[in-house]
Amino acid sequence: MNFIDIAKRRYACRTYRADKVEKEKLDLILEAAHVAPTGANRQPQKLIVVQEKEGLAKVAKAADIYNAPLAIIVCGDRTRAWKRPYDGKNLTDIDTSIVTDHMMLQATELGLGTVWVCYFEPDVLRKEFSIPENLEPEHILVIGYTDEEPADPDRHSETRKALNETVFYETL
Ligand SMILES: Cc1cc2nc3c(=O)[nH]c(=O)nc-3n(C[C@H](O)[C@H](O)[C@H](O)COP(=O)(O)O)c2cc1C
Repeated sequence: MNFIDIAKRRYACRTYRADKVEKEKLDLILEAAHVAPTGANRQPQKLIVVQEKEGLAKVAKAADIYNAPLAIIVCGDRTRAWKRPYDGKNLTDIDTSIVTDHMMLQATELGLGTVWVCYFEPDVLRKEFSIPENLEPEHILVIGYTDEEPADPDRHSETRKALNETVFYETL
């Protein structure tokens, strides 16, 4: 599959089968995280891979993860990320988003459903997974097999703004 086909095929999947994601597939997803670029190569991400029943129940206390068999909590270390000297902008959120997106698209290529979850209670995740102060839980990537009808890969002309509303050449 070409990249653009994978990108179009990906959609927010919200029903999952119970079957576990195979280790080889999980390893590839984590390899995609490993090769993701980060600002100044600081790699401020820490990933908590959750597949066991007890762990998934803990994640589910903080967020709706749609009974998926795999959730990857993507945390960022704000003290490690690069900061732009001009205004102090910290790249943690950007870096962890790229890592998450790489994993999400790799999972799509492997025929897995995914949904990116930011609607969670950070304090609950912190407590359940003993996430230290320097790390911020930023995203949960939910992954698994699905029986649901996939979203139409050609839906974007209807579900996204027209390109000319978001892209400008040479000047805004
Ligand atoms: C940064 C981010 C956070 C999101 N958080 C949630 C979430 O907490 N729960 C959820 O069900 N979907 C979440 N989504 C999924 C979006 O709602 C979904 O991607 C968007 O509506 C576009 O639909 P599509 O992915 O099917 O094309 C999130 C997506 C992104 C990119």
